[in-house]
Amino acid sequence: MNLIIDGKPYTIEVEPDMPLLWAMRDMLNIKGPKFGCGAGLCGACTVIIDGAAVRSCSIAAADVTGEVRTILSLAEGERLHPVQQAWMDEQVAQCGYCQAGQIMNAVALLEGNPNPSDEEIAEAMAGNLCRCGTYPKIKAAIRKASVEMAGV
Ligand code: FES
Ligand code: FES
Repeated sequence: MNLIIDGKPYTIEVEPDMPLLWAMRDMLNIKGPKFGCGAGLCGACTVIIDGAAVRSCSIAAADVTGEVRTILSLAEGERLHPVQQAWMDEQVAQCGYCQAGQIMNAVALLEGNPNPSDEEIAEAMAGNLCRCGTYPKIKAAIRKASVEMAGV
């Protein structure tokens, strides 16, 4: 089957039910998306497919039809994506394990809604868990990135 991930084409042989996360990490050495629960419950594996945040542990690679974007595609050379920069500015990460998924979920949110309300942020991010409790800083970083991306 063919996949396009972060702008690069790949051709791999996969079992029909192999999750996209497994294909990326174990077959293609794309390690940006993390394995957390493997059951669609934590968000650590979040990627963007056709503009939507998707749990890559919960979709079969064989079912992917759109281009996959991972956190590895966000920065342009030395220049961080505004969401990544806001994460740095707000010093969001603690252990960091959940953060790739948090950032990809936030990017999907802001690309679809550049100026979300606090309620919309809370709703969009509710499925991304952080055992370190970085939620207030995540919210602050999304607000900051929103100013950058939407000019508000
Ligand atoms: S690893 Fe995919 S949602 Fe937890
Ligand atoms: S920063 Fe540790 S799990 Fe989120």
